Amino acid sequence: MSRSGEEDDNPMPEDLTETRTPPADAGADAPPPAASSHAVEQHLEVKPRDADAGPRTHIFEASDVEVAYGGKPAVSEVNIGLAEHEITALIGPSGCGKSTFLRCLNRMNDLIPSASVTGSIVYHGQDLYAKDIDPVSVRKRIGMVFQKPNPFPKSIYENIAFGPRVIGMKGNMDEIVETALRRAALWDEVKDRLKTNAFGMSGGQQQRLCIARALSTQPDVLLMDEPCSALDPISTGKIEELMIEIKQEYSIVIVTHNMQQAARVSDWTAFFNVDLSAGEANRVGRLVEYNPTERIFTNPEDERTEQYVTGKFG
Ligand SMILES: Nc1ncnc2c1ncn2[C@@H]1O[C@H](COP(=O)(O)OP(=O)(O)OP(=O)(O)O)[C@@H](O)[C@H]1O
Ligand SMILES: [Mg+2]
Repeated sequence: MSRSGEEDDNPMPEDLTETRTPPADAGADAPPPAASSHAVEQHLEVKPRDADAGPRTHIFEASDVEVAYGGKPAVSEVNIGLAEHEITALIGPSGCGKSTFLRCLNRMNDLIPSASVTGSIVYHGQDLYAKDIDPVSVRKRIGMVFQKPNPFPKSIYENIAFGPRVIGMKGNMDEIVETALRRAALWDEVKDRLKTNAFGMSGGQQQRLCIARALSTQPDVLLMDEPCSALDPISTGKIEELMIEIKQEYSIVIVTHNMQQAARVSDWTAFFNVDLSAGEANRVGRLVEYNPTERIFTNPEDERTEQYVTGKFG
């Protein structure tokens, strides 16, 4: 597959984390009109989870993935299989391409005009970048939570109800809202103030609201880009507990700079690094090592991983 990012009508906001109003297409945060998504849903049908499936069924298979901005590769030669019902952590120094690679997994890079993606990403056996796959429906199945909580300037209830309503989800809306808030471990804290503005919540609550919002349309995968970096340890702990709870139902990929967090929550960890061998001007991110988290933090294969996780650089 070879995609360059000009095909979406909706330019990405300068900073995705700053999106404050429900945009026409904000991926998992603001699902698309039903008409456009239903037509393509058939191409993205996902088999029901098989509880008896063996361990590490890959939900994503990335082969030779390269993302370039304006033709200049930012991350290259990524080969990785990400497993279902696991939390995968992406770690590595700033600029090594963690966010860039994460955005490939729900075609969020399509929204960056200068970005082009080559290689192949197979999701549940389907080429995520095939011509007949609608990126908007991809983002509905593969939700995303950003570094900075970005609730809509609406009530707590409306933040959750917006997505399901737009996609015409069936069922009682009060129940849909309650279920999403319960899944995000937020219900008890907000059940008596559902009609109040989401901006009145604490940062940690806002981030759980964003997780609830991402879960409200029943995605399959949750991508999280440093979701706790703006939160205090208690809020961080709540989100980590939540991730561990919900991984039975979802698959989670998290970018984190917090080594303890990666060690605490993730099953497998991918360490990316900046390759400077072709000079500073040609710096490019590469996947150095991908192993069970315990191994990464106790007995990594690669010396650079060891140096990074022990804080010798980065
Ligand atoms: N929209 C963009 N346009 C041009 N270059 C970009 C864009 N986004 C990222 N890059 C470049 O791609 C490379 C990888 O960036 P990316 O944001 O993916 O790194 P990261 O590992 O997530 O870093 P951090 O830990 O600081 O968030 C960097 O050199 C960055 O400057
Ligand atoms: Mg990043």
